[in-house]
Amino acid sequence: MCGIIGKIGPDAGRFVVEGLKALEYRGYDSSGIAFVDSGSVKILKGVGTIDKIVREPPLTDAAIGHTRWATHGGVTDFNAHPHSDCTGKYAVAHNGIIENYADLKSELMNAGHRFRSETDSEVIVHLFEDAVRRGVSYMDALTYTVSKIRGQYALAILTADGHILAARNGAPFLFAKDGDALYVSSDPVPLLFAPDVYRLVDGSLLHLYPGGYELRGSARRVTGISARRVDLGKYRHYMEKEIFEQPRALAETLRYLQTLQRPEISGRVHLVAAGTSYHAALYGEYLLRMQGFDARAFIASEYLYWRGQEPDVLIAISQSGETEDLLSILRNGVSSEVVAITNTPGSTIEEYARDVVYTRAGPEVGVAATKTYTTQLTVLAWLAGIEGLDQLPEAVSQVLKNTSLIEDLSKRVASARSVYFLGRGLHLVTAKEGALKLKEISYIHAEAYPAGESKHGPISLIEDGFPVFFSVGPSVYTETASNVEEMRARGAWTVSVSPNPLGPEDVHIAVPSIPEVLLPVVEIVPLQLLAYNAAVLRGNNPDRPRNLAKSVTVK
Ligand code: M6R
Repeated sequence: MCGIIGKIGPDAGRFVVEGLKALEYRGYDSSGIAFVDSGSVKILKGVGTIDKIVREPPLTDAAIGHTRWATHGGVTDFNAHPHSDCTGKYAVAHNGIIENYADLKSELMNAGHRFRSETDSEVIVHLFEDAVRRGVSYMDALTYTVSKIRGQYALAILTADGHILAARNGAPFLFAKDGDALYVSSDPVPLLFAPDVYRLVDGSLLHLYPGGYELRGSARRVTGISARRVDLGKYRHYMEKEIFEQPRALAETLRYLQTLQRPEISGRVHLVAAGTSYHAALYGEYLLRMQGFDARAFIASEYLYWRGQEPDVLIAISQSGETEDLLSILRNGVSSEVVAITNTPGSTIEEYARDVVYTRAGPEVGVAATKTYTTQLTVLAWLAGIEGLDQLPEAVSQVLKNTSLIEDLSKRVASARSVYFLGRGLHLVTAKEGALKLKEISYIHAEAYPAGESKHGPISLIEDGFPVFFSVGPSVYTETASNVEEMRARGAWTVSVSPNPLGPEDVHIAVPSIPEVLLPVVEIVPLQLLAYNAAVLRGNNPDRPRNLAKSVTVK
């Protein structure tokens, strides 16, 4: 959550403004830029995205920027980053949480520092100011600053003479070099162009100055970042583009998997993840159990409360590779071997993994996961040794060729107050993911339930026209058909997503007949489109749903 970007070099202002646009998927409550102007640090910041705050990028050779997802302090102009010290010579942009900020703030205020925001982050720049005033070098001032703060951070401090100081502890941070120009970023996306990209290792400090840098600690070279340009092309939103990119994402993932040796999995297997990736974990659990493994899926933030036996293998699934709920499990040292599945080469999850398997979906900009989900399912099917995966790109392509029915249905869904998504067995995974998609971008209440269980409570909400979507496959046609009838008898408007219709009156979204075990990769696609269309019809921006951030790096 939150994004930081910075540059020392020609046209740094433009790079930072453009970089902030690329980082908006990390958070977009407020944004700002600090830049060097005639020997002092100027700050432009406020609520909203950077294009509302900066009309023309400032001409400067050194700048940092920030896009915010509020944690401490409301969404206000003052709380937007960067924050300045008392002298106006330094500015900080910070991601993460400073746990002891309240104590530090009162100490600093007692010593005469003036604070302008309610954020935890502002203490950083005042600590730095204090240290420099004592006559120490920038690097020593940074060392002092991080010795005082407790918590999780990626931070960048810009100085009036055009240096950038950076530090990282538990939040992602990268730097890059391209000729004489130097860059920092909390995310690989704005650095895709650079030949040399490095990830700071936790606890490391970095001092960038015109012409070079000093690193205290270590950094790892990042390889395998997709250099593909992330632009909208003919699409209205990234989410739409990413839904339609799925055949290619699946094909690339399959090509890559062919070159890879399957990681060894034995004994007790736990799959841990959050959000959409947790739904992928549920699919993985199902498939691994089907293949005879002792597998179990967990929501990352709940894993802490698991009181059973430790696993032998932990499969950690995260599109971003930066989800704090998941990383905190790995950081606390699980005794098992970790197999990471991620879409982000160079992300923190790799630091804890015995094996890393990538989804080759390419950068996903829309906050709602789409192509990373279907590629996660594919990787899990491959891990479980399921055959026939090569049918997937074409099957998804078929669904995407005829979307007119889905567009029609979306109109009705867009005006609904609440929607149910029901499924049995393996198809319940699709119901859960379908409900999450609709909820997060259209803001319509949606709930997923096992179809058979729906008559034990949820059915009481059904009234005339209540939309109920069923995901169905051949092994559960008969049982699900009865659930459809039960719903319809009470006035529900039912739609099924399946290879064959459930009955003559069925509103039916057809998906290709592929092996049932692979159907979840395909049957989610119409539901992604349904959510996308409903969001657009309701006037929402599906790429930037309110209150959400793409990568959730706080607990
Ligand atoms: O990067 P991760 O896969 O670890 O992210 C996990 C969730 O935050 C993420 O899937 C979230 O639920 C998405 N908004 C789903 O569309």
